[in-house]
Amino acid sequence: MESELFGGIFPEPKNFYKEYEETTVVHKRTNSDEIILNLVSHHSLWAHHLWNASLTMSSLLEGELQDKFKGVTNESILELGAGGGLPSIIASLLGCTVISTDYPDEVLIENLEKNVKKNVKEPQLSNIKVHGYKWGEDVLPLLRLLKEMKQKRKKKENENKKEIDEKEKEKEKEQENENENEKEQEQEQEQEQEIEKEKEEDLLNNKNKFDLILMSDLLFNHVCHEDLVKTCLKALRLDGKGKVLVTVTHHRPWLKEKDLKFFEIAKKSGFLVDKIGTEFRGIMFPKDLGDEQERSIVNIYEMTLEEHLDVVNQEGIKQGQIVPRSVAHLKGIWHSVLHIWIYDYTKNQVLLQKRSVKKKVYPGLYDLSCGGHISSGDDILVSCKRELYEELGLLIKKSQLIPIFQMPMITKYENGLIDREIKIVYLLNWEQIKNKTIKFIDGEVEEMKWFKLEDLKQKFKESDPKFTPADPEYLEKLLNSIENFEKFLEK
Ligand SMILES: C[S@@+](CC[C@H](N)C(=O)[O-])C[C@H]1O[C@@H](n2cnc3c(N)ncnc32)[C@H](O)[C@@H]1O
Repeated sequence: MESELFGGIFPEPKNFYKEYEETTVVHKRTNSDEIILNLVSHHSLWAHHLWNASLTMSSLLEGELQDKFKGVTNESILELGAGGGLPSIIASLLGCTVISTDYPDEVLIENLEKNVKKNVKEPQLSNIKVHGYKWGEDVLPLLRLLKEMKQKRKKKENENKKEIDEKEKEKEKEQENENENEKEQEQEQEQEQEIEKEKEEDLLNNKNKFDLILMSDLLFNHVCHEDLVKTCLKALRLDGKGKVLVTVTHHRPWLKEKDLKFFEIAKKSGFLVDKIGTEFRGIMFPKDLGDEQERSIVNIYEMTLEEHLDVVNQEGIKQGQIVPRSVAHLKGIWHSVLHIWIYDYTKNQVLLQKRSVKKKVYPGLYDLSCGGHISSGDDILVSCKRELYEELGLLIKKSQLIPIFQMPMITKYENGLIDREIKIVYLLNWEQIKNKTIKFIDGEVEEMKWFKLEDLKQKFKESDPKFTPADPEYLEKLLNSIENFEKFLEK
């Protein structure tokens, strides 16, 4: 690499420029399928090699390095500086929706497009698009393209499903002996499927953002680190599930510290950085200088973008800024949270969750039915649906949630932290969900228990230590609303 960078004062040997011609490389996938890639002739941005980092990235995506990363199946993926495009191509073949980008230079983009078309056939071909993109630039064109691709994909999947359903219906007609009971069961299943569909569409309201960004061997260009982080922040989903996979070889070991500065910038922007391993791949440029071991390995990093929240004022109105959740708590910045209370008005009782003993705040105490933060990019009802599903395994429709009030509240903790939250409170009628099974999917909840309203009032009054502390004004509003529950139902 170094020799290519500086050339030399002596005449180049015969065939020296041969390595600067376009080349073709063949990559064998885990399933033995071959991917044939064309690489551009010498390019100042180093797009003319298939770098070891992208081979390791491809293994990660395929799930070959299970101890480090579980692989991908249907994530929305953005690859930056894709070069020959190997990881993008593999991700699309594995079923992901992929936008493969490189510097907007015609030669690079045409070559990337050629590689995609050569190796990916329908139906996967519709799930990968190539786009010119310079790091740090506006990500909206990429997000727009992703939205279009996902909508088309969903439409196709629904059409396929319809076809299968129709075939099944025909078969059903032939079976005349169906009894009433069986019909009822089918209707129930259909309802569940309908809700499941809604869940897929709405549960992840950060759905127009990327789940995963791939960066293979991009850290060499130190002046671009800020731009790379900026792109990741803008393009990734903000609900705490967005990730970046970075694979990097320090081809110039003496500049390793400078390469690694990228992670410091990422940490300051709300990324949790985890070095998940290394892979030995061998030296790419034997004639170069520097520690050989360092130049032979690919380092693998996983960066998770912390959940980000919208900054709001005391009326709960968004102020146009976002902050990592930890910063909102550390600095006492106003943000919104949702509270859901499940109420059985036929028995006058409320269903409370017992918080997992593993929770940092109030472990093992009884609390509301379900609650959580509202990630930036998610609307409130979508967040309610997601929390109900993740904490209690309940799939519900948005219309089943009854808004009762919202109020600002300041909580001071012993460690000096001040939490400034707008509580947005909903009731959920037990009658509408009583046939469903409660499952503790994310492990945040230990058990659910019914409490008669009368007993609950008493426990709050006595500040029973088995319950999370409750603000008297909040409680009064809540109990009032619950007592007037039937009025809400009539609305
Ligand atoms: C070292 S190559 C890595 C290529 C590929 N990821 C691999 O591992 O095989 C760096 C890639 O980043 C791209 N690149 C460099 N600077 C860029 C920038 N500012 N914006 C977008 N792409 C850039 C180059 O065109 C090139 O494809």
